[in-house]
Amino acid sequence: MKIKAAILGATGAVGQRYLMLLENHPSIEIVSLMGLSSAGKKYSEAVTWIGNGQIPERFAEMEVMETSVKNARGCDVIFSALPSEAARKLEKDFAHSGFFVVSEASAHRMEEDVPLIIPEVNHQHLELIKAQRKERGWKGSLVTTPNCTVTGLAIALKPIDDSFFVKEVVVTTMQALSGAGFPGVPSLSIVENVIPYIKDEEEKVAVETRKILGRLSSNKIEERKIKIAASCNRVSVLDGHMESVFLVTKKRIDEQQVERELSSFSSLPQKLKLPSAPIQPIIVRREPDRPQPRLDRMAGTVPGMSVVVGRIRKGPDRNSLLFTLLSHNTIRGAAGNAILVTELAEKLGYIGV
Ligand SMILES: NC(=O)c1ccc[n+]([C@@H]2O[C@H](COP(=O)([O-])OP(=O)(O)OC[C@H]3O[C@@H](n4cnc5c(N)ncnc54)[C@H](OP(=O)(O)O)[C@@H]3O)[C@@H](O)[C@H]2O)c1
Repeated sequence: MKIKAAILGATGAVGQRYLMLLENHPSIEIVSLMGLSSAGKKYSEAVTWIGNGQIPERFAEMEVMETSVKNARGCDVIFSALPSEAARKLEKDFAHSGFFVVSEASAHRMEEDVPLIIPEVNHQHLELIKAQRKERGWKGSLVTTPNCTVTGLAIALKPIDDSFFVKEVVVTTMQALSGAGFPGVPSLSIVENVIPYIKDEEEKVAVETRKILGRLSSNKIEERKIKIAASCNRVSVLDGHMESVFLVTKKRIDEQQVERELSSFSSLPQKLKLPSAPIQPIIVRREPDRPQPRLDRMAGTVPGMSVVVGRIRKGPDRNSLLFTLLSHNTIRGAAGNAILVTELAEKLGYIGV
């Protein structure tokens, strides 16, 4: 039987991506769409569709419901694409009432007993759910997924950290417009322009990356103590966040080995052959001018789920490295990652117990 799911924030940039990714999913079925201003309307009338092609036919006629626990009757999983303020209370209500909540919002990401998951990087952290249920007296659970800029960075850092021990990271981002949701940044501000500021983003890049790369010990995450400095920029690209990374490691860097570790990186989702797990979570490009958002954001066996890394080169000394990465912000950085979390959680027995 399929997992029954509700989408909160179904009309937003991330909500729309859920509809595209779950339209023909083998084990997850959307049975409820929820919203705020769109509640009571037909989905096709409420949404400004920014996705590819048409609104998937079977959702176009569905009524968007008010966001409340009673409208999730019959669901197992709640995918929350709510703004953070709304997520703060609503997500806990759903988790308390017995649902497995997977959140895109930042509201609860840094709470001690809330896992912040990228399945290939820290699937072990899902264990926190047991303590969370016990301590909070919840029948359900709350799992969060990272900020869209963090996801690509943490995936690329993981194999490098495992082999060379990363001490410092300096990252400059070039972030797509869809990362700001809909309607997002006004067109007159962004056309022919770059905006060198994204509210609260640089802090999130540092703290979330340290939590994700941390170690689970006695029901707590010991954060990975890496110094991280980020500069975040909004650029006039529709989808796909680019990041220029400089890092310093404890061990001496060997670029060829870095390339091999990145290309061969594989983890539990690949072993379990989960439907949303790309065969290669990281694709390395050797051309001097790749990755590029338009050309590479849908690369790989599961389009949008692989991080594309290029321009791997030595830094100014033996313990430093430079590279550029690209990650699709609404797929790997949001809905796709949350769906992969759900596929894994189901396999590990966390859903419906
Ligand atoms: N965009 C990305 O690349 C990305 C990536 C990772 C994480 N995120 C996070 O994901 C969340 C959604 O982002 P987005 O870009 O999809 O935002 P968005 O385009 O602004 O969409 C927001 C959605 O939330 C609904 N909503 C707003 N206030 C609500 C409330 N009080 N109660 C119930 N529903 C409410 C809206 O519904 P109505 O239309 O019905 O009013 C709309 O469907 C945010 O927390 C964001 O930070 C976004």
